Amino acid sequence: MSTDDKALLQVMRTTGEKELLALERKHCSWGDTVHYLDPPKFFDRAEGTFLYDRGGTAYLDLQMWYSAASFGYGNQRLQQALKDQLDKLPQLACQYLHPEKVQLAAAIARLNQSKFGLDGRVHFNVGGSQAVEDSLKIVRNHTGKNLVFAFMGGYHGRTLAATAITSSYRYRRRYGHFSDRAHFVPFPYCFRCPYDKKREDCGLYCVKQFEKNFETEYNSFWDAKAGEPEFSAFYVEAIQGTGGYVIPPAEYFPALKKILDERGVLLVDDEIQMGFFRAGKFWAIENFNVEPDIIVFGKALTNGLNPLSGVWAREELISPETFPPGSTHSTFSSNTLGTAVGLEAVRMMLETDYESLVNAKGAYFLTQLKQLQKKYPRVIGDTDGMGLALRMEICQKDGYTPDRELTDKIFAEGMKGDLDAHGKKMGLVLDVGGYYKNVFTIAPSFTITEAEIDLGIELLDQLIRRCAADRV
Ligand SMILES: Cc1ncc(COP(=O)(O)O)c(C=O)c1O
Repeated sequence: MSTDDKALLQVMRTTGEKELLALERKHCSWGDTVHYLDPPKFFDRAEGTFLYDRGGTAYLDLQMWYSAASFGYGNQRLQQALKDQLDKLPQLACQYLHPEKVQLAAAIARLNQSKFGLDGRVHFNVGGSQAVEDSLKIVRNHTGKNLVFAFMGGYHGRTLAATAITSSYRYRRRYGHFSDRAHFVPFPYCFRCPYDKKREDCGLYCVKQFEKNFETEYNSFWDAKAGEPEFSAFYVEAIQGTGGYVIPPAEYFPALKKILDERGVLLVDDEIQMGFFRAGKFWAIENFNVEPDIIVFGKALTNGLNPLSGVWAREELISPETFPPGSTHSTFSSNTLGTAVGLEAVRMMLETDYESLVNAKGAYFLTQLKQLQKKYPRVIGDTDGMGLALRMEICQKDGYTPDRELTDKIFAEGMKGDLDAHGKKMGLVLDVGGYYKNVFTIAPSFTITEAEIDLGIELLDQLIRRCAADRV
């Protein structure tokens, strides 16, 4: 072994935090991550609903890897499925079959057939954005069109095509012209209505505004003579994730779907963050009584273990005659480890009443959040939730103007790991989202207990008292 190789092996054995941070600054791209803290935080271990830092301090996690680990860290049942597959068939080229791929596809297709009365097929990939890309190919292949609608505040990922339909300009700014940038439509964010209306008497003004686009060809979306839209699909999140867990009114999606159906525009439902019971139902869209044409999923399907994502589409959009073999082939697409865990996760979802469990825990958490809002009206402007997708808007004294600075302060303070949990030092992991980056998007583990919810509220209370002492 050369001296250079020996030195390199020494670098690869670095464990000191200072040295690791220096290596990170020099050798890691920062483009594939986000640096909310300076310096970024190391973690060592995860269990249940807690992360542990290198000093052994516990952090109650109210983010759960952006809902990728919804079923709890170290979920034994899912980890065992991964270990079993690791011993049996850890690798296999996607051109060959293994039972778990077929069983998982059949399970999701049959579930959707019973939920929506629609025949369809399932298509796999690895990351959420990749599945979004695959769905765009399905849409383009079926309609021959490449323009879509998407929501302001929507997030669909950061590959090039997913970025084109994600609202934030910050994600597109450096990368030139996006010829198929989506047409972004205001989301029914009723706490901050884009049209300054009040839900009590708005008469779904936002839906009416959307429908106006199709009134005449001169509004630019529709050829009345041909009866054809220029736009092929509408990409939606039933509840906005990164946009701040914004929950639309119950009547919104049925009204929107009617307009889309009448114009031949497909509804693509991005369930990557809200799917698999985050919002109390298998798919979040089930809360809103509409049938999607395409569903995109990922994240929690494998509880964050060997990633797997996918697309379900109606038969006429995805049958092999329409969407032939190789249309989106990718080396790792239906990998044996991911499909084995995904299959076990769906089994677990069928055997456990997650609908009752998640809704009960979510209702308990939301009641506590509302009490906190009552206690601190000069800090918390809005709280809301569906299932275990909960939101808390940090605002200025008026209870409305977004307070991003205070949000960041609370977030950073929680990561210090020095809050008081019944005499023990503890941290709190939060996630910041929303159009104005002033929303805590709270996504606890489904395994969280009432005592842990109480603890979470107590830690949030401490953080508010620490960071907004002049307003409490
Ligand atoms: C709704 C939604 N769509 C797409 C994505 C992108 O998924 P991934 O980060 O796995 O590419 C995300 C990720 O947060 C998401 O929340």
